[in-house]
Amino acid sequence: MTHPSSPSGAKLVAGNWKMNGTRASLVELDALKSLATQAGHPDLALPGARLVVCPPATLVAAAAERLAGTAAAVGGQDCHAQASGAFTGDIAAGMLADAGASYVIVGHSERRTLHGEDDATVRAKAEAALQAGLTPIVCVGESEAERDAGQTLAVIARQVRDSVPQTEAALVIAYEPVWAIGTGRTPTNAQIVEVHTFIHGAQPGRPVLYGGSVKPQNAAEILALSGVDGALVGGASLKAADFWAIAAAARA
Ligand code: PGA
Repeated sequence: MTHPSSPSGAKLVAGNWKMNGTRASLVELDALKSLATQAGHPDLALPGARLVVCPPATLVAAAAERLAGTAAAVGGQDCHAQASGAFTGDIAAGMLADAGASYVIVGHSERRTLHGEDDATVRAKAEAALQAGLTPIVCVGESEAERDAGQTLAVIARQVRDSVPQTEAALVIAYEPVWAIGTGRTPTNAQIVEVHTFIHGAQPGRPVLYGGSVKPQNAAEILALSGVDGALVGGASLKAADFWAIAAAARA
């Protein structure tokens, strides 16, 4: 399902399963629905959070079927910049849309680092996503060395300028400091607010998610920070109980 009818002001809580999960893992989505039902929201329409689940591409269609009739959306984790063609192994944005996705993550730091994706590539992918009717979640974030060198805002400025398409279309930005991803380390609240405020200044009107070691224990505090419009959750999105606890911590 897409999100335009969701309550305004709700946080966007997106789970990035990365390269984890088989069809057996879809029971986590059933568990998520059970937890929501117990809390009085059987349709997953939470007052404080809009949910997106980004499983591996092999599970997008099945996840969309499992979440049909709920307010939760499904997203891909990457897409190709071209709509079709001789690109063995790649997946076009339109294919994700056809499988039931309404979002796609682009420019995740693991794609930038492990697949050599630069800002221009990320922007082309985001444009392809928009063409296919998907909402891109464009990721930016500084490395530890860049932060230590005092370059954080310069890096974010460049990534936002060069990775985010110039468009009026709905688009989400995720700030994910590379050193906070999968490490259990998070920036200070002041550091998160500084970067989110900066991105909002550069890209007014866009939701900006925080990502990097978001857990049930820190979700309420992070999601309540000024300029934080939601969370992109990796490891803690794999278990329904944790993902639910993070979503339940969101207050509109
Ligand atoms: P993490 O990953 O929550 O496991 O740190 C976040 C991400 O990479 O999107």
